[in-house]
Amino acid sequence: FEIKRLVDQAFQTASLTAKEITALLAIDLTELDYLLEAADRKRSEICGEEVHLRAIIEFSSYCKQNCHYCGLRKDNQALKRYQLQKSEIIETAVMAAQLGYQTVVLQSGEDEHSAAEIAAIIRSIKTKTDLAITLSLGERELSEYKLWREAGADRYLLKHEIADQSLYSDYHPGMSFTNRINCLKELKKMGYQIGSGVIIDLPGQTPEILARDLLLCQELELDMLGSGPFIPHPETPLKNSKQGTVAMTLKFTALSRLLLPFAHIPATTALGTIDVEGRQKALQAGANVVMPNVTQGKYREQYQIYPDKICVNEEAGDCRQCIGGIINSLGRFVSTDHGHSMRKEFVK
Ligand code: 5AD
Ligand code: SF4
Ligand code: FES
Repeated sequence: FEIKRLVDQAFQTASLTAKEITALLAIDLTELDYLLEAADRKRSEICGEEVHLRAIIEFSSYCKQNCHYCGLRKDNQALKRYQLQKSEIIETAVMAAQLGYQTVVLQSGEDEHSAAEIAAIIRSIKTKTDLAITLSLGERELSEYKLWREAGADRYLLKHEIADQSLYSDYHPGMSFTNRINCLKELKKMGYQIGSGVIIDLPGQTPEILARDLLLCQELELDMLGSGPFIPHPETPLKNSKQGTVAMTLKFTALSRLLLPFAHIPATTALGTIDVEGRQKALQAGANVVMPNVTQGKYREQYQIYPDKICVNEEAGDCRQCIGGIINSLGRFVSTDHGHSMRKEFVK
């Protein structure tokens, strides 16, 4: 394959075959810049220089699942768990709005939170603020998704993690890839803007699989697509596996922009964790979103999905300032609108 020709084709048509994507994911560092620069140009063309911020509230670290890579997995008994009160969640959202955020992401492990209580929280945040609300609560009953949508939730984030049935089953005991994809499709039908995402460099993952991930994301018509490197957590079965690389994460980010030009693409915290300049690099390789943490004080370090997560010693205001500085230093600016989906069905 001629790498430049493939990049140009992706730039112009947003369409490549699995084989072509695989070839681009396998390029070495000497050819990387051409791909990343094309994605940066596409980002500029579609999104302009504005960057959307999404404030994440990690409101509960309880999880009933046992994903092999994740520090919040049920069998990690070394982790001290917490669950914020309803009033604390609402207060944190109000504080995020006061800091200028336009979106809050309510995120937790998979827990049996009462659906009615989540709906009440959504309604209260919508009454008190003008925030867009993203939910990131894992797999639930369709009736519960519907209830939350009616309560005012705008978006749902549910990463499919890896587009390979067999590896998906290995890493997610008791869970089903089919059900996960079905949840995303049903959420879309309910009018949610949907986001998914991938862990880069999970053991056993190949460029062929990552190519399938991208084709699946196209097929799902995602409004948002994130990718972060795998970071081994000492209290998990994957503790001795190799950490994901910056290069593969950037290649995937760039291809995400070229193949799903209208998707919102975050520069992830996981990438910022393995490389101090990670988020800056992603913002210059197709990303147009950053998702800073607004969780209060002591809870941050307890939401330990992976070790050495950045920002655990900072407060919401610190991160807001820090990230504003990073964005401005790249000649970009923080958006003042909600940053809803850029897909045509959502653009008014
Ligand atoms: N490394 C990187 N990302 C991880 N996630 C969970 N564990 C890890 C890890 N060890 C991501 C997954 C999941 C979200 C909670 O965090 O993509 O969706
Ligand atoms: Fe739970 Fe999500 Fe972690 Fe899996 S990835 S163990 S569902 S918090
Ligand atoms: Fe939290 Fe930089 S974003 S300190």
